[in-house]
Amino acid sequence: MNEMSTAADYIQSKIGQAPEIGLILGSGLGVLADEIEEAVKMPYEDIPGFPVSTVEGHAGQLVYGKLRGANVIAMQGRFHFYEGYDMQKVVLPVRVMKQIGIKTLIVTNAAGGINEEFEPGDLMLIRDHINNMGTNPLIGPNDKELGVRFPDLSQAYSRDLLGLAKETANELDIKIQEGVYVANTGPVYETPAEIKMLRVLGGDAVGMSTVPEVIAARHAGLNVLGISCISNMAAGILDQPLSHDEVIETTEKVKSNFLSLVKGAVEKIVEA
Ligand code: HPA
Repeated sequence: MNEMSTAADYIQSKIGQAPEIGLILGSGLGVLADEIEEAVKMPYEDIPGFPVSTVEGHAGQLVYGKLRGANVIAMQGRFHFYEGYDMQKVVLPVRVMKQIGIKTLIVTNAAGGINEEFEPGDLMLIRDHINNMGTNPLIGPNDKELGVRFPDLSQAYSRDLLGLAKETANELDIKIQEGVYVANTGPVYETPAEIKMLRVLGGDAVGMSTVPEVIAARHAGLNVLGISCISNMAAGILDQPLSHDEVIETTEKVKSNFLSLVKGAVEKIVEA
């Protein structure tokens, strides 16, 4: 059996009903998993075939349970390309979540603001992305069971889900931005010259994740909602160095809005 099925079988042996929604929780945003009720926690190291997360601030477990009445499964901590995992490993959890039944994937991340109208602490709904990683998780023989050879990405982020998330933000009086997420490999933060370039290219926020998972999700036919927490202004905008501590501090501040937005969106998704 392949890694995907081995992992899926293990998870299915631990959980009840199939989850409808999968969540990937970015740096500093893992607190959302604490809101899941009747939680079944599965540390990555216990899941056969799963890689193990190494970065500080990433707990590294799957959490299954109920969020606003919906059956969900959340990744508390993700696998980044810059950690040295190959792209297949980075996207494995998405494929596993698809296999156990999710229809919708909510991806979240901490990102640097490129758009100068943004402020640290803003939440940005991802309208589209630019893959600036120089590689792609679908390179290699295509497994037809997973999806087509040449997937369409003209609506990588579902317009319906984007609309639903905007509505949720408005109802909850949460300030919301919308824009294009650029994925770099990291682990360095960008140079000011790179940020200028990315702005010219149409980027609004920049980070080191999300795009591989979204590509695999679309390949698998999942509907995707993407949310970036603007944890800092990208390099060169403010006259100060960037640090991971700043990223974590800001996500800490925006926590309550982030939690309300995601929970509200989940509620609307299951109602829809
Ligand atoms: N650049 C890249 N990744 C990031 C940033 C940034 O400024 N902030 C949080 N993740």
